[in-house]
Amino acid sequence: MNKKCRVHPSHGHKRHALLMICLFAFALTLFVSPVMAKPLYQEQVEQSEVSDKALKKSLKQVKEHKEIKVVDDLSVPPFHKRAVLQTTKKQPFCMTCHLSLPHRKNERSRTFMNMHSRYIACETCHFIPKGAALEYRWLAYDGVDAGKLIAPRRAVEVSVETPAKSERKHTAQFKKREPLAPQPGARISPFYNDVPVLLFKETPFAKDIEKKWEDADETQRAEIKAQLHAPLKKKGAACKECHGKRTPMIDFERLGASATQLKAIQNNIVARFFERFKKEDERIRIDKLL
Ligand code: HEC
Ligand code: HEC
Ligand code: HEC
Repeated sequence: MNKKCRVHPSHGHKRHALLMICLFAFALTLFVSPVMAKPLYQEQVEQSEVSDKALKKSLKQVKEHKEIKVVDDLSVPPFHKRAVLQTTKKQPFCMTCHLSLPHRKNERSRTFMNMHSRYIACETCHFIPKGAALEYRWLAYDGVDAGKLIAPRRAVEVSVETPAKSERKHTAQFKKREPLAPQPGARISPFYNDVPVLLFKETPFAKDIEKKWEDADETQRAEIKAQLHAPLKKKGAACKECHGKRTPMIDFERLGASATQLKAIQNNIVARFFERFKKEDERIRIDKLL
C-alpha cells in the first residue's frame, strides 16, 4: 500500500497522511504529555488509599508534631555550628514541613543520614515503589541548571597517593577525595521514564499542599500527612543497599564513579560497622571503629 502511494503519489493521499500526522501529534500533546510529565511520586500520592489505621496514627503524630524553629540568636555562640546553613535554589517538596537536616530521632544514624541529604534526594531513600523500575541520575538543585538532569563528572581514575609509612591503613579511608557529585548541590535522584519522580517546593501541587497544610485543622492535617506518606518508606534505605557489594540499588559507575571511588563506597568502614549493630541502643564507639 505504501509503495503504491510513492510510485503514484496523489495529492489526496498526501493531504490525508498530513492530516493524520497532525491529528496524531495533537492527540499526543493532549493525552500523553500531561500524563508523562506528572512525577511518579505525585501520581502515587493521588492514587493512594489511606487506611483507617494509618489515619489514626497520623492524627496522633500531628497532635504531637511541633514546628521546629532554628534559633539563630543565642546569647552564647554554639560550639558546633556551621557558619551558613547550605541552601539550594531548588528546595525539595519535603522541606515544606521537614527541616533541611530532617533526621533527629535515631541518634546513631541521624548525623550520617543528614550528611547524605546533601547529595542524595530524600526520595532516593524514602520513595522506593514496588514494580516501578527507577533509574538514579544526578539532578541539579543549584546553579544555572537547577531542576535539570545533569551529566556525571567523567570517571577519571585519580591516582591514589601511597600513604606515608607512618600512616596506618585506616587513615587512608578518611583522606580527602573528589566528591562523586559533578557540581555542588547535585543530588542522586530517582527518575522514571526520564522524568524525575520527585517534586520541588515551588511546583503547583506542592504549593497547593503547603496552602492546605497552613489552613488545615488537626483532622485535616492528619489526612494530608497520611496521604503524602502513603507511598513513602518510613525507614529509608539501609546502608548496605548502597554501600554493599551484592545488589546495589544504584549504578554508581553510571553516576561517574571511578573504580577507586566505587571501591571506596563498597568498602565504607562506617557503613560496614552499621551492619554489625544488633540492638537498637548500640552506639558507635571510636575504639571499635579504628
Ligand atoms: C505537609 C507536611 C509534610 C510534607 C510535605 C512531608 N512530610 Fe514527612 N512528615 C510530616 C509529619 C507531620 C510527620 C510526622 C512526624 C513529625 O511530626 O515530624 C512526618 C513524618 C515523616 C516520616 C516518618 C515516618 C512517618 O510516616 O511518620 C518520614 C520518613 C517522612 N515524613 C518523610 C517525608 C518525605 C521524604 C517527604 C517528601 C517526599 C515528606 N516527608 C513530606 C509532614 C510532612
Ligand atoms: C541516605 C538515605 C536517606 C536520605 C537521603 C534521607 N533519609 Fe530520611 N531516613 C533514612 C533512614 C535510614 C531513616 C530511618 C532512621 C531510623 O529510624 O533508623 C530515615 C528516617 C527519616 C525520618 C523519621 C525519623 C526522624 O528522625 O524524624 C524522617 C522524617 C526523614 N527520614 C525525612 C527525610 C527527608 C525530609 C529527607 C530529605 C531531606 C531524607 N529523609 C533523606 C534514610 C535517608
Ligand atoms: C542511597 C544510597 C546510600 C545509602 C542508603 C547510604 N549511603 Fe553512605 N554514601 C552514599 C554515597 C553515594 C556516598 C559517596 C559520596 C561521595 O563520594 O561523594 C556515601 C558516602 C558515605 C560516607 C562518607 C564517605 C567519605 O569518606 O566521604 C559515609 C561515612 C557513609 N556514606 C556512611 C553511610 C551509612 C552509615 C549509611 C547507613 C546508615 C549509609 N551511608 C547509607 C550513598 C548511600
